[in-house]
Amino acid sequence: MNNLTPWNNPKWIGSPHLPLDATRKTIFGMEAIFTGNGGIVFGAEDKRLKTMHRNIQNQANENGGYISYYLDVVSHKLIITRVGYAEGDTADVPFATVEVEPSYIKAENTLTIEVLGNSAAAFLNGHLIDGEIQPNFFFVKPHLTGRQLNPIADNDVITFPRMNNIGLMESGQYTSFRMFNLRPPKGELYKADAKKCLELVGKTIDPTHGGVTILQREFDICKTVQTATAHISARGDYIALFNNQALNTDGTVSGSRPKDYFTPGAAHFDKHIFYHTYNAAPFLQQGKNRMEFTIGSGWWSDAQNFILRKYNFWGDTPALCMKLEITYTDGTTETIATDEHNWQCTQDGPIRYASHFHGETYDARLENEPKNWHPVAIIAPVEIRDGDVYLNSTNLNQTTPEIVEHIGNPVKEVMVLKAKSVTSPTKGVFIYDMGQNMVGVPRIKVYGTPGQEITLRFSEVIYPHLPRYGNLQGYLMTENLRDADCTDIYICKGDLGGEIIFPQLTFHGYRYVEITGVTTLPQLEDVEGVVLSSITEDLCIGHFECSDVNVNKLFENILWSTRANFLSIPTDCPQRNERMGWLGDAQVFAETATYNANVLPFFRRFLISVRDLQREDGRFPDIAPQDGGLGGIPWGSAGVIIPWVLYKQYGDKQVLEENYQAMCKYVQFLRNNSTDYLLNPQGSEVLGDWLAVETSTDKELLWNAIFAYDVRITADTAKILGDTKTYDDLDNLYHSIKQTWNKTFVNQANGKTQTKNGEANDTQTSYALPLFYNIFENPALAAQRLNEKTIALDYRLTTGFLGTPCISAALSDNGYVDTAYKLLLQTEYPSWLYPVTQGATSIWERWNSQTHEDGFGSINNMNSFNHYSLGAVGAWLYSRVLGIRPGEDGGYKSFIIQPNFGGFDWVKGQYDTPYGRISSQWEKVKDEYLFTLEIPSGTTANILLPGRKEPIVATSGRYEYKI
Ligand code: BGC
Repeated sequence: MNNLTPWNNPKWIGSPHLPLDATRKTIFGMEAIFTGNGGIVFGAEDKRLKTMHRNIQNQANENGGYISYYLDVVSHKLIITRVGYAEGDTADVPFATVEVEPSYIKAENTLTIEVLGNSAAAFLNGHLIDGEIQPNFFFVKPHLTGRQLNPIADNDVITFPRMNNIGLMESGQYTSFRMFNLRPPKGELYKADAKKCLELVGKTIDPTHGGVTILQREFDICKTVQTATAHISARGDYIALFNNQALNTDGTVSGSRPKDYFTPGAAHFDKHIFYHTYNAAPFLQQGKNRMEFTIGSGWWSDAQNFILRKYNFWGDTPALCMKLEITYTDGTTETIATDEHNWQCTQDGPIRYASHFHGETYDARLENEPKNWHPVAIIAPVEIRDGDVYLNSTNLNQTTPEIVEHIGNPVKEVMVLKAKSVTSPTKGVFIYDMGQNMVGVPRIKVYGTPGQEITLRFSEVIYPHLPRYGNLQGYLMTENLRDADCTDIYICKGDLGGEIIFPQLTFHGYRYVEITGVTTLPQLEDVEGVVLSSITEDLCIGHFECSDVNVNKLFENILWSTRANFLSIPTDCPQRNERMGWLGDAQVFAETATYNANVLPFFRRFLISVRDLQREDGRFPDIAPQDGGLGGIPWGSAGVIIPWVLYKQYGDKQVLEENYQAMCKYVQFLRNNSTDYLLNPQGSEVLGDWLAVETSTDKELLWNAIFAYDVRITADTAKILGDTKTYDDLDNLYHSIKQTWNKTFVNQANGKTQTKNGEANDTQTSYALPLFYNIFENPALAAQRLNEKTIALDYRLTTGFLGTPCISAALSDNGYVDTAYKLLLQTEYPSWLYPVTQGATSIWERWNSQTHEDGFGSINNMNSFNHYSLGAVGAWLYSRVLGIRPGEDGGYKSFIIQPNFGGFDWVKGQYDTPYGRISSQWEKVKDEYLFTLEIPSGTTANILLPGRKEPIVATSGRYEYKI
């Protein structure tokens, strides 16, 4: 890793002012100081409540409703009113009335409201008067809970209220009013002195101000430039322009818009921050030069976690750190770096707001307007500690991170889709169908007058025409996006030739885009979806196709969910308010990913964050680069399993070297948490076969099987790296765990799986996972049970995230190829092909995320349509159907070819190794299979065919066999 720490002179700079978009703000504090009766109004003029289909509460209020907190000092009451948020809301009857302890009330009172996203707590002169400190909720430490204001729920829902318009209530005499962030550094968002307060009394105003920060530096070049190298990093996303030309990591020229997105990429910013290096020479000129950087919130600030209070996770201010090193032809050098003296900033640019979750607001009228430039500030990240708003993870911003070169390519445009059709469920609302669940940004040509506001909203699905969806039928279903607003707003400049909506600092997971506010309906070909991913075309190395159209669609869906969820980090899903590096999901899908694409640099980069978050005692996180969440052993084991999967597939020892210490430490952690080779009982936050249909798979059985597997992998790694002492130790440990596991979890009389207490378990996953990990002492008997079980289930899958990647190979490698194929080809629920029959264009979080008959069932809010985990069968298609598998020593210098014939009339596919392409295809001809194989030069294949005991060893060339 190329490490530039310390950078010496460059400093982190940003704007001293916090901008505010009140329509996107869910977490904030408000404080009014006043005498007499008075109070605060917020959440007013919410556009979502003005239009029936933008909320599920069936509201269409002209003024968008409001919420008020009113202190009556005479009757000692806090009167809370909610209007327009749900049926039954009225200004006449309080939503709630809180008795206030009279002694809290003074002549001048400070009323503070903490809006916590869906709920709020109130304080009077520092005393909590509405809300409570909850000892424990879910897996989160003691914290403040407020009164639920959202009519639907307090968690995992479309957030109501948001700040929107605010005001002050009559008849208070106000000294001041301010709004601020709740998480450190608790920056101020809005402030009104007594005079300005007068303008707020009895009415509401929009407090929105400031746009995304732009930084600039002007400088002169008087000599001839020989080389110029720019190193650029940011806390947040940056867009770099040199003399109005975008810098690209691949050195190409692309006008004023870079090809790279979301640079420098997600990281555990406490320990590592990435930078990119650019050849800047072609962009410099004699005389005056100007560098410009737009810095969005990215993975630094704003919303980026399903726990809403983790808003501004690292801080509230994006910042830039860069240096430009110039060497002149006369041999002299010059360094121009970020500092507090020579740089200026503005928030007057056209990007008025941008965040990954919530979308972008762009005012095209400001593109060429003069800007008010002012001095920059040095931005030091403020420590966030346990006890600060919802931390529940390691304290943040405590260390000085290393600034390291980004590994692999950044997110890029990988494809452009055009809308396939458009519907208009009501006047003025147009829903375009991209025909594919994708991740990226829209690029849409529109015509408008100056100031005309066009709104784009996004969804993966639309409410089907089923009676239960009432008047929402045919509209976007956004409940599953929860707090992620996923809304782009574009204000036209009024270009007669049309103008392009093309956000840069956000991304959406969607298939449908709803356009409102247009006077001219965009043509289908003018509504584009620019697909973004870290998996660029040049990295794609695998292909599979076969005689079954449904399986081909399944394979395509796996590829789409790979693209969608490999975006800087491996994410669980790309659309809702998570998009997080859940380790369990990454772990189960890693092998499939290694076949689809060269994901080695991508995962090497991600594993830096995984190691950064490894606890002192060895525990790996459940989520990276952010911490927190739940998962435990199956999730944390990603820190062991992923390096191993990478080594096996790419034969790369470096990845083992990089992770070896951490792997050993993790295995030691598990060992320390075990007694007599069995893991000690774990808390409920340690998950099992997540989202399985058959929920009864014994978790301890799974955890201990994974424990054994982790030890096996680490032992084998020790051997490869020449650490024989550790190998011997861990090899012994492995055998002891394995023996104990079999004694404990296998009924010695009938071979069925059981719990620690001897109760039969006997689920598909309870066999599939330990079989795949080679834990059974009698695998033949376990496989027989799995086969019987699967037949009894009529070849359906009852497995969740953990069992699904294992079951096919567990069957086929143990003689049940036919059952494995019947399972794959099943189209009834639950199965891989069932979602295909229900119209899936990507892999769903659940086997029945949406059905023709039942819509979304009853699960609208935890229902992602782009979750790669259940697509982990992809590895089996490559490794067992095509039969392409890495060799014992990892990689493809020497590899295995062992196709499982059956199931299909024909299959064909390929895998591009560093040595060249391996092609495998077979076809059923009468009672025989005709198998054709191509082996790249410089490699050796060990071909294992049915009916032959010994492998055929073959070198480069084309081979045909009849089986
Ligand atoms: C995520 C999962 C993740 C799980 C663990 C979910 O919300 O989307 O895919 O693994 O949480 O608890």
